[in-house]
Amino acid sequence: MGNVVVLGSLNMDLVVRTERIPRPGETVHGLDFRTVPGGKGANQAAAAARLGVQVEMLGRVGEDAFGQEMLQNLNAQGVGTHRVRHDAGAPSGTATIVVQADGENTIIVVPGANGQVAVQDVDDNRDLLANADYLVMQFEVPLPVVRHAIAQAEALGVRVVLNPAPAYAVDASFLKGVYCLVVNETEAETLTGLSVSGLEAAREAALALRALGVPVVIVTLGAGGALLLADDEFTHVPTRPVSVVDTTAAGDAFIGGLVAALDRGMSLVEALRYATCAGTLATTTLGAQTSLPLRAAVDAFYREE
Ligand code: RIB
Repeated sequence: MGNVVVLGSLNMDLVVRTERIPRPGETVHGLDFRTVPGGKGANQAAAAARLGVQVEMLGRVGEDAFGQEMLQNLNAQGVGTHRVRHDAGAPSGTATIVVQADGENTIIVVPGANGQVAVQDVDDNRDLLANADYLVMQFEVPLPVVRHAIAQAEALGVRVVLNPAPAYAVDASFLKGVYCLVVNETEAETLTGLSVSGLEAAREAALALRALGVPVVIVTLGAGGALLLADDEFTHVPTRPVSVVDTTAAGDAFIGGLVAALDRGMSLVEALRYATCAGTLATTTLGAQTSLPLRAAVDAFYREE
């Protein structure tokens, strides 16, 4: 088992459940409200740790109660947090999430301290990176920092798994040094300029992304499963039907599952199947880190296939 470093966001998710997401200008009654630790970076770190991976988190929280709670929660799940900075100049990041009855959601992220993550944070943790097997990142911290970290990881021989979420257009040079790119259809569209909906379009997008120099491309398709392009071969893994409660963090669980499987020495195709199991199970429970499945559950679901 190796070491995984996740550089990314920590948000406190402010989650409201409602029958239906309101239209602009409309007021509706909610069913309940809760705070749940989230943030794509922290979710992916927790997802991998719950599946048995040794994970260290890099990022920033504010000097506030949300920051404390998020770090305690990550620690309790086995993620190393002592390198996460406490930023006196910004509040902890938040995400206001509305979940409707069919599990669909809307999310507004206010970056706070995540927006203060700096190139220096990467350089100060070069020792940690030097001992890592994988560096996992998303787009919820400033993009120049992500670009810098990719270059550092490449120089150190660390494999970068990049989940460019939420989607921003970046040029091809940004992706140089990325080992594995994991995108959903929206992110694939933003990066390629192609219209991406469904399996055939995902194949085209994966080819376009591979042409940018990324050796392993995965396009996640929600209920349509996930598509892998590696070594000139496509593999599509469908999802199995489950009772969907909330899709929040399903993509993060997928990435945690992917990294955990690769860390255990599984092949890319096996890792894709394992990641799909983790992502699927995460949709059956409300919330971000509250929904991330444990190893026993994912292993059992994987074996049932
Ligand atoms: O991917 C889900 C996450 O996106 C939520 O936890 C929220 O914090 C936003 O960052």
